[in-house]
Parts: sequence; C-alpha cells; structure tokens
Amino acid sequence: MFSLTNKIAVVTGAARGLGLTIAIELSKLGAKVIATDVDVNQLEKSAAENKEYNLDFMELDVTNVSDIKSVMESINSKYGGIDILVNNAGILGSMSIEEMDKEKEWDRVLEVNLSGTFFVSQGALPYIKESKNGRIINISSVSGRNGGFESPMSYTAAKGGVVALTRGMARHLAPYNITVNAVCPGATETEILKGFTEEQLQSILQYLLLNRLGKPIEVAAAVCYLASDEAGFVTGLMLDVNGGGYFG
Ligand SMILES: NC(=O)c1ccc[n+]([C@@H]2O[C@H](COP(=O)([O-])OP(=O)(O)OC[C@H]3O[C@@H](n4cnc5c(N)ncnc54)[C@H](O)[C@@H]3O)[C@@H](O)[C@H]2O)c1
Repeated sequence: MFSLTNKIAVVTGAARGLGLTIAIELSKLGAKVIATDVDVNQLEKSAAENKEYNLDFMELDVTNVSDIKSVMESINSKYGGIDILVNNAGILGSMSIEEMDKEKEWDRVLEVNLSGTFFVSQGALPYIKESKNGRIINISSVSGRNGGFESPMSYTAAKGGVVALTRGMARHLAPYNITVNAVCPGATETEILKGFTEEQLQSILQYLLLNRLGKPIEVAAAVCYLASDEAGFVTGLMLDVNGGGYFG
C-alpha cells in the first residue's frame, strides 16, 4: 500500500539494531535512505552487509550540534532535500536511583536520547519544511509512557521528554504540513537489551500481555506507516509497539 518513492529519509543511530532495520524497510518502500550513526566501525560493517538496499551510510553524532548542522546541509545538497527524519539514536544507561551519577550517566543519557532528538530535528528542519509531506518520527519507549519496568530513571526521563517534545513539535510544525509522531517500543530484540540482566528481562516479560520480546521489523513497520503519505492526517501520536505492556 505505501510507497516512499522519491523520498529522502535520514535515520539516526542506524548502524545496527532498530535504526538499521528501519532504514532497510524505508528503502524497500522506495526511499533513498541516509543511515547515520556515531559508530564508524559498525557503519562500515553494515554498509558492506547491506549493499542490496538503497542506503548510504554517514557518520553523525547526535550530540554534536555543529556536526548536525553541517551533515544536514550536506545531505540536502547531495540528495536534494529531506522528507523524512527518524530520530532513533539512543542509549540505555544502567544506574539505579541510589547510584545515579550526573556526569557518568544522567547527562549523557539525556544528551543522546532527548537533546539529540531535538537538535537533529532543528538541524533538518529548514529542509523538511521544503518537503510536501514532511515527517519527523521519534523513537521513544514504553519507559516514556509508563515510567518503564526496569529502565534507569535517566532513560525514563529522556524518553518521557521525547513524548512531550513530539506533542509540542507536532503543534509547532503543523503549519508547514510536517507531521511529528513517536513510536514507543517495548523490549525488542536488539543489542540494547544487553544492558539488562536476565532477571530484569524476565521481570519485564511478565508485564507483557503477549509474553515475548518484540522484533525490530515490528517497530520498523510502525515507522513505515507514519512515514507514508497515507498517514498525513496523523500527528502528535504515540504509537505503542510493546506487546501490551502499556496502552492508553
Ligand atoms: N530495543 C529495545 O528494547 C528498545 C525499546 C524501546 C526503545 N528503544 C529505542 O530504540 C532506539 C534504537 O535502539 P536499539 O534497540 O536499536 O539499540 P542499539 O544499541 O542496537 O542501537 C542504538 C544505536 O544508536 C547509536 N548511537 C548511540 N549514541 C549515539 C550518538 N551520540 N549519535 C548517533 N548514534 C548514536 C549506537 O551506535 C547504535 O548504533 C533507541 O532510541 C532506544 O532507546 C529500544
């Protein structure tokens, strides 16, 4: 049903995991996708392994505001615009409430997950404004919806911030026909889950009606829908893809 032919999409944190799956699925629908990440080695590996897709790989640290600006400028001049931005880059952290350290964890988790989402959107905005059907899709988390089950408070706060940002930006950017939505995954099979102990994972599973981990494709499919022209009347939505761990 959905076609993204002639669309230019930028995905952050896309060297592996959900970001890479999202980039591949957007490209299968016809988009030209620029998969960005801070991890240069993983970018090179994924570029070598995914030559069959219409993907270009590019270095971008979402915490570096001047790099964000120059990377977005160069994407715009090389590809002729930006239609779709997926703010996916994220880190989990691991500290309990008692041991939470501002410098060692709190600031970094907020910087990547929340500030990164805002400043990459700001950097891409001049170009997305030029698109007929601009799309910003943020990857939040069930943690941002219900406080989380086992995730650190740094992550919960950052992902809750992404939910608020999504709603606020939906309001501010509607006059440009840019929709801003978020996908809020529950525990999904990627490397990030290595941040949880086996006990924590079992504890998470017991809250999920479907009693299993999500698959990256199940999150990517939600992103593809929100990226489509057919989703043009949907903005400010949190799309929960979490096995029934939280709804409404
Ligand atoms: N997998 C899950 O269970 C789950 C659940 C809810 C939300 N999420 C969210 O989904 C997103 C993707 O996570 P994932 O599960 O694929 O994990 P992952 O660890 O496999 O991938 C995260 C990617 O982000 C990149 N990254 C980290 N810091 C960055 C920075 N400063 N700039 C650019 N890229 C950076 C990493 O290099 C990595 O490639 C994250 O925002 C995460 O919080 C994941």
